[in-house]
Amino acid sequence: MSDKKHDDLDYETTGHEWDGIKEYNKPLPKWWLWTFYICIVWGIGYSIAYPAWPGLTGATPGVLGFSTRGQVAEDIAKFEEANSAINEKLAAAELTEIAGDPELNGYALNAGGAVFRTWCAQCHGSGAAGAVGYPNLLDDDWLWGGTIEDIHTTISHGIRNETDADARYSEMPAFGRDELLEEGDVDAVVNYVMSLSGAPKDASVVETGAVVFEENCAACHAEDGSGDIFQGAPNLTDAIWLYGGDYDAVRETVWNARYGVMPNWTGRLSEAEIRAVATYVHGLGGGE
Ligand code: HEC
Ligand code: HEC
Repeated sequence: MSDKKHDDLDYETTGHEWDGIKEYNKPLPKWWLWTFYICIVWGIGYSIAYPAWPGLTGATPGVLGFSTRGQVAEDIAKFEEANSAINEKLAAAELTEIAGDPELNGYALNAGGAVFRTWCAQCHGSGAAGAVGYPNLLDDDWLWGGTIEDIHTTISHGIRNETDADARYSEMPAFGRDELLEEGDVDAVVNYVMSLSGAPKDASVVETGAVVFEENCAACHAEDGSGDIFQGAPNLTDAIWLYGGDYDAVRETVWNARYGVMPNWTGRLSEAEIRAVATYVHGLGGGE
C-alpha cells in the first residue's frame, strides 16, 4: 500500500485533485459489499428457481414449478375437501331444520356470509340494507315471502329473469304509458297510495283514488294495500319503499311500472352455497 497518497491531515486520497479539492479514498465497507454480492447471487438463483423473467406470453416458469395460482387452487381444493362432508349434509338437510342444528347453522351462517359478500352485496349492499330498486333484506317486509323456503326459491330461480323457467314472475302494468288510466286517475291513485302510509300531496283526490285503486290495483296489492307475496306485489301501507314514496317516485311507478330483475343462482352456486346464503339471509333478522 506504498502508493497510497496522503493529504496534509494524513487522510488517504485517490490522488485526484481539482482546484485544490482532493478526493478522499473512502471505499464502501466490506460488510456492505459482501451483502451486495450475496444479494446478486441470491437474485440470480431465485430467478432460476421461481417464475421471474417476463416474456411475451408469460413469465419464465422457474425450475421449481411454483405458481401462486396453483397454490390458491390447492388451498381451495384443501378447504373443499375439508368441508365436503358438511356441505353434503347441508345440501341434503330439510331447509327448516338447518336453523335448529347448531353445527349446520353455524357453518351455513359463515359460509353464507362469504357467498353474500361475493355475489349479492353489489346489488343488496354489503350490509344487506338494499338500495332503490334492490330490496332491504334486513327487515321483515318481504316481496316474495320471508320463510326459509321462500328465500331459497327466490335465490335458486331469481326474479323476472328470462333464463329460468321457474323464476318468480309478475308484471305491474304501466298504467300511464299504456293509457290504461287517465292522467287524472293516475294522479288520484298516487295520492291515495301516499295516504296509506303517510300524507298525500293533494288530499282532495284521495277518495277518487281509492276507487281507482279498488278497480285497478287491489287484485295485486290487496284491497287494503297490504300487498301479495304470491305476485311479489309490495305492501303499500308500511312506509317501506322499494322505489321511493314521494309523489314523483310513486307516479313514476304507476305511470311506467318497474321491472325488478334478480339473477338465478342455480348452476352458478352449489346447492350447499345456495342453502348457506339462504340461511344467512333468513338469519339477518327479517326471516319468518
Ligand atoms: C343484479 C342485482 C342482484 C343481485 C346480484 C342479487 N339480487 Fe337479490 N334481488 C335483486 C332485485 C332487483 C330484487 C327485487 C326484485 C323485485 O322487484 O321483486 C331482489 C330480491 C331478492 C330477494 C327477495 C326479497 C323479498 O323481499 O322477497 C332475496 C331473498 C334476494 N334478492 C337475495 C339475494 C341473494 C342471496 C343474492 C346473492 C346470491 C342476490 N339476491 C343477488 C337484485 C339482485
Ligand atoms: C299485476 C299486478 C299489479 C297490479 C295490477 C298493480 N301492481 Fe303495483 N306492483 C306490482 C309489482 C309486482 C310491484 C313490484 C314491481 C317491481 O319490483 O318491479 C309493484 C310495485 C308498486 C309500487 C312500488 C312500491 C314500492 O315499494 O316502491 C307502487 C307504488 C305500486 N305498485 C302501486 C300500484 C298502483 C297504484 C296500482 C294500480 C293503479 C298497481 N300498483 C297495480 C304489481 C301490481
